[in-house]
Amino acid sequence: MSNEKAVLHIKGKEKIELPIINSTVGPGVIDIRKLRESGYFTFDPGFLSTASCESKITYIDGNKGILLHRGYPIEQLATFADYLEVCYILLYGQKPSKKEYEKFKSTVTHHTMVHEQIANFFQGFRRDAHPMAVMCGVVGALAAFYHDSLDVNNDIHREIAAYRLLSKMPTLAAMCYKYSIGQPFIYPRNDLNYAENFLYMMFATRCEDYKVNPVFANVINKIFILHADHEQNASTSTVRLAGSSGANPFACISAGIASLWGPAHGGANEACLNMLEQIGTIHNIEKFLEKAKNKNDSFRLIGFGHRIYKNYDPRASVMRKACHDVLRELNIQDPLLDIAIELERIALTDEYFIQKKLYPNVDFYSGIILKAIGIPRYMFTVIFAVSRTIGWIAHWNEMHSDSKNRIGRPRQLYSGEKIRKFD
Ligand code: SDX
Repeated sequence: MSNEKAVLHIKGKEKIELPIINSTVGPGVIDIRKLRESGYFTFDPGFLSTASCESKITYIDGNKGILLHRGYPIEQLATFADYLEVCYILLYGQKPSKKEYEKFKSTVTHHTMVHEQIANFFQGFRRDAHPMAVMCGVVGALAAFYHDSLDVNNDIHREIAAYRLLSKMPTLAAMCYKYSIGQPFIYPRNDLNYAENFLYMMFATRCEDYKVNPVFANVINKIFILHADHEQNASTSTVRLAGSSGANPFACISAGIASLWGPAHGGANEACLNMLEQIGTIHNIEKFLEKAKNKNDSFRLIGFGHRIYKNYDPRASVMRKACHDVLRELNIQDPLLDIAIELERIALTDEYFIQKKLYPNVDFYSGIILKAIGIPRYMFTVIFAVSRTIGWIAHWNEMHSDSKNRIGRPRQLYSGEKIRKFD
C-alpha cells in the first residue's frame, strides 16, 4: 500500500480520500471500498475500469501485446513448455523441478478416468446436442461423485479437486465427441502425454491400433498452452463470482464453461470459422468489412478485437505461425486460410480497424488449425474449455486463499419506479 491517495470532491460532502495501491507492474488501483459511506456507488458496466480482485497469476499489457503467466512470457511457454508444465506454473507459481514435474504429471495421468456411471449421463442427451451443453451438465455432475473434495476451505480438498478437473476434462471432452458420432468411449492411456491422450481418446477406436500424429499432438499442446489463462476474462470472473459463495469447484467450473460458450468469448473460434465460410471467397471480404463497420448491422468480424489488446494478441501471432506450419506439414491447401490471411491483411490496413485498434485475437487462427487436424467445429469451444480449466482453477484457488475474499455482491444504478401504491 503506498501513501498516495486519490481525493474525491462531491458537492455538499466532505472530501473523500481513497488510498492508491500500486501494482508490481501495470496500472495501480484506487481502493474504493469505503466509497459507499459517501452514499455513492461507482458505475462501470462491463468493468472496463474495474479491478475485481488482486491476483499474481497472469499479467496482460494490452497496448504492448504482452501476456505473462507468473512472469513467464506466453511466447516462451508456447515454444519451450509442455502444457502440464504451464498448469503447474499457474497453480503453484513457478516452473517445476524435473522431480516436481514428473510427480505432477503422474498424478494427473492417474486421475484421467471418470467414474463409470458418468457414462450414463450422456445417454440423456440427444446425439446432436451441442457438446458445450453436455459439458456444462457432466462437469457440474462431478460434484455428485466426489464428496471427498468439496470443502472449499480445505486446501487439500481444493488441490484434489484441481487434479480431478485438470485430469478429467480431456476425457469428458472426448466422450462428448464419441457420443456425438455414435462411437464407443475410449479409455485414457497412461503411457501417453496430456495432448496425445486427448487425441487418442478422440480418434482411436476399439477396432484397431491408433497412433497419434506427433504434428497434431504438438499443435494441440500449443493450443492448450495459448488458451490456459487470461486474467479476469468473462468466464474466469464467472468462476470467481460463483466460487465466492462457497460453491463447490465442479459447479464453479461448470459456470465457467457456460460463460465461455458465448460467441463474444470462447465461442468465437467456432463462430470465426462459420464467418470465414460465410465470406466464402476473398472477393467478398470488402462487403463483409463494410457490414462490420455498419453500426446498424449486428455483424462483427469474429476473431478481431479484444477488450484489452489494442495491439496484436501475442497468442494470435504464435497461432498464426502454428497454422502455417501445420498446413505445410500436412500439405493442406485450405481456402479458408487464404481468406483469413487476406482478411487479416485488409483489416490491418483499414482505417476503421486501425482507429478502433481491432487486431486478430487468439480465436482467429485456432479454428483453421483444429479443422486441419480433423476436429469438428462444434468441438472447438470444448477444446478451449479443456485448456482454460487450469486457469479457472488457479483463480478459484487464489480467491479462496485470499483473506480479502468476500462473497461477490455488486450494487446497481437504480432507474426504476419510485415507491407507489398498488391498490
Ligand atoms: C476471447 O477477455 C478475454 O481475455 C477473452 C479471451 C480469453 O482468452 O479469455 O481473450 C478470449 O474471448 C477473445 C475475443 C473473441 N471474440 C471475438 O472475436 C468476437 C468479436 N470481437 C468483439 O465482439 C469484441 O471485440 C470483443 C467482445 C472481443 C471486445 O468487446 P469490447 O471490448 O466490449 O469492445 P466493444 O464491443 O465496445 O468495441 C469497441 C468498438 C465498438 O465500436 P463503437 O461502439 O466504439 O463505435 O469496436 C467495435 C465495436 O462496434 N468492434 C468491432 C469488433 N470488435 C469491436 N467492430 C467490428 N468487428 C469486431 N470484431
